[in-house]
Formats: sequence, C-alpha cells, structure tokens
Amino acid sequence: MDRHFIHFETPELARIVNDRSPPTGLDEVLIAVDHAGINRADLLQRLGLYPPPEDASPIPGLEVAGRVVAVGEHCTTLKMGDRVCALTHGGGYASHAIAREDHCLALPDNLSTEQGAALPEALLTVWYNVMERGQLSAGEIVLIHGGSSGIGSIGIQMAAALGADVISTAGSAARCDAVKALGASFVANHRESSLTAQFTDAGYVGQVDVILDIAGGDLMQANLELAAPDGRIVCIGVMRGMHSEINLTTLFMKRLTLTGSTLRRLNTAERARCFTAIRERIWPQVIAGDIQPIVDTAYPLANVLEAHEHMRLGTHFGKLVLDCRMG
Ligand SMILES: NC(=O)c1ccc[n+]([C@@H]2O[C@H](COP(=O)([O-])OP(=O)(O)OC[C@H]3O[C@@H](n4cnc5c(N)ncnc54)[C@H](OP(=O)(O)O)[C@@H]3O)[C@@H](O)[C@H]2O)c1
Repeated sequence: MDRHFIHFETPELARIVNDRSPPTGLDEVLIAVDHAGINRADLLQRLGLYPPPEDASPIPGLEVAGRVVAVGEHCTTLKMGDRVCALTHGGGYASHAIAREDHCLALPDNLSTEQGAALPEALLTVWYNVMERGQLSAGEIVLIHGGSSGIGSIGIQMAAALGADVISTAGSAARCDAVKALGASFVANHRESSLTAQFTDAGYVGQVDVILDIAGGDLMQANLELAAPDGRIVCIGVMRGMHSEINLTTLFMKRLTLTGSTLRRLNTAERARCFTAIRERIWPQVIAGDIQPIVDTAYPLANVLEAHEHMRLGTHFGKLVLDCRMG
C-alpha cells in the first residue's frame, strides 16, 4: 500500500516522503492514519537527542488514530475498517502505521480520530506510573504536576474517575482555573510563590499519597515535603532539570518510594497488560464521556515544524495532533 511519512533531513527541515507501507506482522494491524499525537519525545528525537530504540521505526510518532486496513494472521479482535487509536513503536507521523493488535483501543463513534490520537500515550503513561508504580487507591490524594499538559489533562480525569482526590500545578492563573475544571480540587501556580507554601496554605503539605512529577529539577524537594508517610513519587520528565538536590532524611523519615519510568522502554507484554487494564477500568469512562481528551490544535502533517514549535513554547493546553490523511 502506498504511504507518505515525515522525514527530518535536518532538525529544521521536514520533508514528506512517499514509499510503500511496511508488511504487517502476525500480531499487528496496519492503520490508515487520520491523526497522530505529538509528544515531547518527538521533539527530542528530531533534534537527535533521543534516538529511537533499535527495533523501533525511525519515523517519529508514538500514537495514532484511524482505520484498520490490514490485519495480521494471528489477530483475533480487530477487522478491516475498524476505527482504532493505538500506541505505535514509532512510525506515527505517516499516512499508514503499524501497531500491535493488543496495543489498540476500539474508537467509539462519539470520539473523533483527532481526539483518539490524543489518548494512547497519556492513558498508558498515567496508568503505568500512577496506578501501577504509584499504586494509587480510591480515597487517596494524588498530585499530578503539569495539569495543563497532554499527560496531566488526562491524568487528572483518570485519577478523579478512579475515586482519588486530585490536586495539580499549572503555569498561570487562567491555566490553574482550566485545570480545576478538569476535576482537580486545588491547583497551585508554579510560576508564583513557593509551591510548598501554596500547598501548605491549602492544607496539603505532608498529605499527598502519590505524586506524578513531569518536570523534575527543583520540584523534587517540594515533592518530598508534600508527600504523606509511605507516599510514592513517580518522576517521568525533566523539564525543570535532570539534577535535583534533595534532603535524603525526608525519604527515610517518611518511608517514601521514589521511582520513575519511560514508556518507550516498556516491553510489549507490559504495554499489552496496561492496555487490558485500561480497557476494563478506564475505557468505559472514555466512552461515557467522563474522561475527555483535550485537543488544542490539529496541524497538517506538512506543518510538523510549526506544531513542534508550538509544543516547545508550551502555550498549548492538552494535546497537539497532526492530520496525516492522504490527499
Ligand atoms: N517517561 C515517560 O514515559 C513519559 C511519557 C510521556 C511524557 N513524558 C514527559 O512528561 C512531560 C509532559 O509531557 P506532555 O506530552 O504532557 O507535554 P506537554 O503537553 O508539552 O506539557 C508540558 C507542560 O508542562 C508545563 N511546564 C512547562 N515548563 C514547566 C516547568 N518549568 N515547570 C513545571 N511545568 C512546566 C507547561 O504547562 P504550564 O505552563 O501550565 O505549567 C506545559 O504545557 C514531558 O516532560 C514529557 O517528556 C514522559
């Protein structure tokens, strides 16, 4: 099948290239991609700072939504024509992309492919880090940093839907209000006075059971202070810096767990296990409209550099996606 995809000749020169779609493996489907989600990892890959794993497609793009147009022999649930969103092993910035059948979710009629493309990476990242590594339970308090981000905007809704009390952070008063509207009971402005002071005034210091940290750096000591005894802190990003100076005594005085992960390095079986849990625990709430993907802007695939610049500036709310349709 003919396809087109994005090739970065240099970090500042993107070209649309035509070739043939790769063959579909036994457990895989080929998806005619309507939309692909943009992730910060794509920007780093474009700059040569985050090379894809050796077995991954060199084409950027970690999540897509569209229609199944070829089905591998061992596939049992999906058929030609099904609307899906999926996590890809790279290759999403294209008109056609391969995904494992067990890394797909069937898109309900009430979700567009634009919305569908905004979901897989955020659902998987939040499920694995907050529910599995962080062991969040109903009734606990969870702090999801970066509530206005692609990850945070879904994470807040997921945690609230599972019965947690969610608090968050964002970068302006207006963004804090918008994050509250997603279901957070308190949102601190990380560009104002000390975060710890804001959470102390709101009565949350020393009370937070699980923290999802998307930014690292100086946030880590604040995380340690905000955590409740036996709290779990999961770090998945370093926008504020790769290095932190922390007071280690806080770790052992409160018996805290500090962990992290990167979805790109999670093996296929672990991803499939998360998808099974999401299908059972989260997807019904997506279908019911209780968890809604927030799409800020959809850019034509050819305008990928403009879309990346939008993400680099960080002025979006929720997700940015690419329209990858042919013609
Ligand atoms: N480890 C993994 O598996 C994994 C998977 C996916 C994403 N991530 C990471 O998670 C982070 C969020 O990803 P995303 O796709 O959701 O990104 P995104 O949509 O681009 O959101 C990033 C948001 O972070 C906030 N921000 C910017 N600078 C900040 C700072 N210095 N301190 C605190 N917040 C800041 C901004 O919102 P405000 O201005 O409102 O604060 C911005 O909108 C990224 O670091 C990404 O690399 C990790």
